[in-house]
Amino acid sequence: MQPEKLLEEIKKNYLPRIEKVTSLQDLEKVRVEILGKKGILTSILRGLKELPLEERKRIGREANLLKEEITSLIEKKKEDLKSKKEISQFDPTLPSFPIPYGKLHPLTQVTEEIIEIFRNLGFQVFTGPEIETDYYNFEALNFPPDHPARDVQDSFRFEGDWLLRTQTSPVQIRVMERFSPPIRIVSPGRCFRRDNPDASHLPMFHQIEGLAVDENITFSDLKGVLEEFAHAFFGEDVKMRFVPSFFPFTEPSAEVSISCIICKGKGCKTCGYTGWLEILGAGMVHPQVFRNVGYDPEKYTGFAFGMGVERIAMLKYRVDDIRLFYENDLRFLQQL
Ligand code: PHE
Repeated sequence: MQPEKLLEEIKKNYLPRIEKVTSLQDLEKVRVEILGKKGILTSILRGLKELPLEERKRIGREANLLKEEITSLIEKKKEDLKSKKEISQFDPTLPSFPIPYGKLHPLTQVTEEIIEIFRNLGFQVFTGPEIETDYYNFEALNFPPDHPARDVQDSFRFEGDWLLRTQTSPVQIRVMERFSPPIRIVSPGRCFRRDNPDASHLPMFHQIEGLAVDENITFSDLKGVLEEFAHAFFGEDVKMRFVPSFFPFTEPSAEVSISCIICKGKGCKTCGYTGWLEILGAGMVHPQVFRNVGYDPEKYTGFAFGMGVERIAMLKYRVDDIRLFYENDLRFLQQL
């Protein structure tokens, strides 16, 4: 066949075949048919030397251009087919790459753990606002305006009567205003005091408040509930100690400690060589608080307690600096 005809033939029939090929094997077959030792284009190039000079130049140029075009077309097709093959080898039923799970912040974990213990004892969960009035945060809790008990709760105040609550105790008032006894509630939440940050203080921290009001509630009920909590949270072998204290809204009041969970009461750095760790404040609800919410103090008695979540979490996880909870350092958080 005339070389010109053959070139036409390649363009008309072989080029489209390259386009249509669907497998690497078929592509190789077409390549051999065109460019292999006995390929159609190879034979044209081989036959060039038999042609007259003018024709040789013309056909030669055209054949070489076509060879280049075909070579790059085949290369491109090869890449296409390879990437398609990779996609078709993707198995969507295989398990995916593991996604690292997040988890609850240690303070949230501790809060939930504490609340769960009290829930099992029949306490309900209530929350209150973080922005309070002086009345709910202090006045109704029997802190008179100039009482020195306010000094340890230096507050962030807004214009007017508003302040950031310094304790969760105002929730006691809000709950008693809304409901009649019997009452058994715990109330977790943020509190704020004008403290400078150090290893054991931050201007924002968390408390969990507890309140039980009914007829015939006694100090032994308070002791029993707190002992149940301490054993459930810190272990059956911890001992409890009540030391007389003062809060305006409870009478009598106590500071409650557990035997040091690190040295088992022998005395170490964590417990300041006393063998005891203070974990919360508590007491019997002051009659004036009952009068403030319209309860009859002759009919009802009750107990209240309040604990710092950070403090409890520091004891549980042996953390020696409260600020670590708020630095969001994953090296710290991932351990807890
Ligand atoms: N609200 C008290 C405080 O922050 C703690 C407390 C709560 C004490 C309930 C007694 C009863 O210091």
